[in-house]
Amino acid sequence: MEETKSQKTDILIIGCGIAGASAALEAAKSGLKVVVVTKNEKLEESNTFYAQGGIVSLGPDDHPELLKEDIIQTGDGINNPEAVEILSKEGNKMVDSVLIEELDIPFMKSSPDSLDYAQEGGHSRRRILHIRDTTGRTIEEKFVAALKDYSNVTLLPDHTAVDLLTVPHHSKNPTSFYREPRCIGCYVLDNKTNKVKIICSTYTILATGGCGAVYLYTSNPKGAIGDGYAMAYRAGARIVNMEYIQFHPTSLFHRDADGFLISETMRGEGARLKTKDGQMFMDKYSGQNELAPRDEVTRAIYEEMTNTSSNYVYLDLASYAKIDIKKRFPHIYKTCLQYGIDITKESIPVVPAAHYCCGGVLVDGWGRSSLSGLYAVGEVSCTGVHGANRLASTSLLEGLVWGIRSAKHIASHFNPVLERTGLDIHQWYYPEKEEETDPALINQDWISIRSTMWNYAGIIRTPKRLERARADLDYLHHRIEKFYKEARMDRNVVGLKHGIQVALLITYAAIGNPVSRGSHYIKN
Ligand code: SIN
Repeated sequence: MEETKSQKTDILIIGCGIAGASAALEAAKSGLKVVVVTKNEKLEESNTFYAQGGIVSLGPDDHPELLKEDIIQTGDGINNPEAVEILSKEGNKMVDSVLIEELDIPFMKSSPDSLDYAQEGGHSRRRILHIRDTTGRTIEEKFVAALKDYSNVTLLPDHTAVDLLTVPHHSKNPTSFYREPRCIGCYVLDNKTNKVKIICSTYTILATGGCGAVYLYTSNPKGAIGDGYAMAYRAGARIVNMEYIQFHPTSLFHRDADGFLISETMRGEGARLKTKDGQMFMDKYSGQNELAPRDEVTRAIYEEMTNTSSNYVYLDLASYAKIDIKKRFPHIYKTCLQYGIDITKESIPVVPAAHYCCGGVLVDGWGRSSLSGLYAVGEVSCTGVHGANRLASTSLLEGLVWGIRSAKHIASHFNPVLERTGLDIHQWYYPEKEEETDPALINQDWISIRSTMWNYAGIIRTPKRLERARADLDYLHHRIEKFYKEARMDRNVVGLKHGIQVALLITYAAIGNPVSRGSHYIKN
């Protein structure tokens, strides 16, 4: 097998949602050489692109202390206070300087001189900036356009990250065992050629997003299978809080809708939840009714669906909205209409779906993980901001703040370790007789992972269900590892290896935590 030449860069960023893109932009401004890798053909394809609700800033009668209280209350008190402080104090300044001034993002206004602030569950103030119901799409497009202006940024779409490179693990030099373990880049699969490239980097930033797609029903795009958690775990970085998987209460219930999100801002505009036979129910569960934190609303819906033997409940905006629905929610209006539902006239059938992972690669206030040379930002990281349950619309802000902070930290402490230590990395190993992959096997493995996670490690967990999940997933893991070693490399094979690892990380974390808190709910 011919040797692959390795590519060298100062910073390798894996993922290009708001967290990866803001890190890349900040690093680009500092003059460092940056490579951004994404597994999709379209650079913009990311969880950020699909974010509807908006981004938290500070409303007119607001204060960072109030935001801090709301975040900690929703997170059930196990948030990292230092991280919450950073987000609450710095977040709105970065929204102003980067999103509004630098990228000229056209947030909606309520009058010519004031921004329009939306409301979501758990917030004591209206403080969410939005671009109708497609906030993430506009932010993402603006970032990608800005990155294309920098000659020191190489964008590599259609490349799948396979495994992080670490010294000593991947080094050919036996004396490297005497050095502190360090991440020095990544093995990356070119999706078009199915060949693995070696990208060596002085610093690596994981910005691979979340893992909702290891569940059967999710609001996330199908690619959100948690690649970053799996790679960081295998590289030896600390991963925490993976049991805290947040379920969004309202995704569209329709055979073909694929978890299409019905934004929480609809409840902020007065929409009410009702059972199939038209009864409101949220007042039985929370004094905050429809604007209770997500985990409470999700469990209330689950309970009502169980009591009424139904697969969905209704969200009724048409009877309560004081706004022009088509203007405020044009994307949701158009999408629902495609499925035969006119949201200006009728209720929307909705069901909870896996939405956000509050845990991840443990990082500090600058995005540094426990493994030297490796940073993590956005959903793949755990800064501790979210505790046991994330406050709505804080994720884009967290991605922005830690994206910028991580790049600033690297730029101001840049240490060209790669130049000093030299690189002598093992080539990727291709088996001599590669087997053609059978798509039926891959599909069935994914069905098993997703239904196991949904039924046994989902909204309501029990020790028995989790134990069953562990046993089934452990067995599947062993089968998939064997298959991985023999199969011809392609993105689907890599995805399956990441996915099973992430399902196990969540399941083991849930088994290890007998206390119900926030989005981890365990019934004994
Ligand atoms: C939504 O619009 O409901 C999603 C916002 C979020 O998850 O932060």
